[in-house]
Amino acid sequence: MAEEAVAPAHGRGIGMTGEAAAPFLMQDIDMLEVTRFTTGSHEFDRVLGGGVIPGSLFLVGGDPGIGKSTLLLQTAHAVAQAGVSVLYVTGEESPQQVRLRAERIGSFTDRLYVLAETDLERIERQVAAVAPHFLVIDSIQTMSRDHVPSAPGSPQQVRECTLSLLRMAKERQLATCIVGHVTKDGTIAGPRLMEHMVDAVLYFEGDRHHRFRILRGVKNRFGSTHEIGVFDMQASGLVDVLSPSELFLAERTAGSAGSAVVASLEGTRPVLAEVQALITPTAFGTPRRMASGLDYNRVSLLMAVLEKRLGLYLQSQDAYVNVAGGMRMEEPAIDLGVALCIASSFRDTAIAPGVVLVGEVGLTGEVRAVTRLDQRVQEAEKLGFSRIIAPALNVKRLVLPAAVGIEVVGVSSVQEALRVALGG
Ligand code: TYD
Ligand code: MG
Repeated sequence: MAEEAVAPAHGRGIGMTGEAAAPFLMQDIDMLEVTRFTTGSHEFDRVLGGGVIPGSLFLVGGDPGIGKSTLLLQTAHAVAQAGVSVLYVTGEESPQQVRLRAERIGSFTDRLYVLAETDLERIERQVAAVAPHFLVIDSIQTMSRDHVPSAPGSPQQVRECTLSLLRMAKERQLATCIVGHVTKDGTIAGPRLMEHMVDAVLYFEGDRHHRFRILRGVKNRFGSTHEIGVFDMQASGLVDVLSPSELFLAERTAGSAGSAVVASLEGTRPVLAEVQALITPTAFGTPRRMASGLDYNRVSLLMAVLEKRLGLYLQSQDAYVNVAGGMRMEEPAIDLGVALCIASSFRDTAIAPGVVLVGEVGLTGEVRAVTRLDQRVQEAEKLGFSRIIAPALNVKRLVLPAAVGIEVVGVSSVQEALRVALGG
């Protein structure tokens, strides 16, 4: 428990002029002509819903060292090069360090200003002087306001600074990106309090031992959420990955037991990835269960279904299940793939290499319908798969362009899917 002093209240709301507001009839409100500007990255734009909206405030959160500063410096550079003036404020590095990083990713332009500052009032003065159209604050945990007694990074400072930035963004029509560190429990520090204030929340994630990074939208007032952008961290900065499925399947050793390819819909884009399972007899006592890149509880549930409905004796087996390559997948449509991959490892029988699995699994072992099967089928076909096993209900309603080179098999239960994929 930490004591927190109450900060003086602010009289003004967001984007208000300070005068009392009157209600409008809905049809009388002017439609705002929004002209988004590009971040210079196709993937970043996609997650934002098609580019940056002037006056919007968005948050990019992530673990330390994942590449947030790299991403934003690159973006700042690209935006500046497109003719929008940019102010990049760093509270963590000296201008020399920023310059060094810029050398590395080859970022130079004369419309990009760098300011090393942590005092928000002084930043506001610099914003007034430079009058940028895009502002980057790296990171919110280093920023502070004088009148707030607590230390930088405390919930109160974070809240106050975010509020000031929000007000400035709306008043000046200044698109602002705030970088935030994620605390151990995975939420942006300052217990999620910023998430309510900003227009969009994006998480930058990935396994530090892998090269690729994912920018995931979890909230977006100007676009769809759950959209992902995939990047490759190279020696000279981040590069867009336009075909993530290819990347995730690159190291697959097709035809081995305990491997299955699933098709998940990430936002509006279908992504194929390999799920792997290793089922081995438990050496002592309680079986070990591990899931990485997947929801642990979901894996336990699927194992229970396999045990009860299909009679697979998994009680005395250790189970390790993961998504290859370090990707994290949460859509229930991958259930069938996960279940069959566990069964495949348990029986030591491989699923045919050209097969993709799609479907949500219910508690009675039924395979439930998923959304947008057509897109998943097309992605699977594009990547050269010959067969897709999908929920029967979806398959019945599926309308595909005439000449598809992929066989679509409808199944209504896990048993049936097992027969089709593993032969029995
Ligand atoms: P950084 O952007 O500093 O992370 P954050 O701001 O999220 O803390 O990224 C640091 C890591 O990225 C560091 O381990 C080195 C690596 N990196 C590259 O691989 N290539 C590059 O071009 C750059 C600039 C960094
Ligand atoms: Mg950083």
